[in-house]
Amino acid sequence: MSAPTHSKSLLAPAFSGHSSSVAPAPEVQLRFFPSPAGHQPQAMSLSVNGRNHVIHADPETTLLRVLRKDLQLTGTHFACTNGRCSGCTVHVNDRPTRSCRIPVHVVLGAEIVTIEGLAAREGLSSRELHAVQRAWIDEGVPACPCQAGMIMAAAALLMENPDPSVADIEAAIFLDCRCGVRPHVLRAIFSLAERLKSW
Ligand code: FES
Ligand code: FES
Repeated sequence: MSAPTHSKSLLAPAFSGHSSSVAPAPEVQLRFFPSPAGHQPQAMSLSVNGRNHVIHADPETTLLRVLRKDLQLTGTHFACTNGRCSGCTVHVNDRPTRSCRIPVHVVLGAEIVTIEGLAAREGLSSRELHAVQRAWIDEGVPACPCQAGMIMAAAALLMENPDPSVADIEAAIFLDCRCGVRPHVLRAIFSLAERLKSW
């Protein structure tokens, strides 16, 4: 299947050909996926990672729940209860979107990309890593379930703004968690931004 075409790209020749030797972020328990009472499941068509899927779900259920439960795309995580952790970020028409905060009916007709489809979005093979994933590894960002969403948020940020400031990064990615990723994430984004200048 050919890779989907998109208007924006962060593909860098310097990164193509890297093989993935890193295990995906550890799986976490499905913890909190409220679905409002009183709504009935409906058949809906959803475009995710370049493929159309027919799902049967409550239109008000969250996109995150549909991705994980209906489509088994478990790379996207639920990690907070307030919409601030970035861990559930996916791209909706190239825009970073907290999938825990958006009902699935809102994104019908949109092109959704999850961490599973990020490299393929750039035309890379399933054995290759996206430039942001590579930067995360190079800078030793600790493995945490939130990282898939942070990578998605960083990729969207760099597509919009290839030379972000700390304030830009903080506005795009929640870095105040207590697990200590902040300096690693900042270094990963700044080092990639530096390389982007020469591409
Ligand atoms: S799980 Fe969505 S922002 Fe934290
Ligand atoms: S708790 Fe996951 S990145 Fe900090």
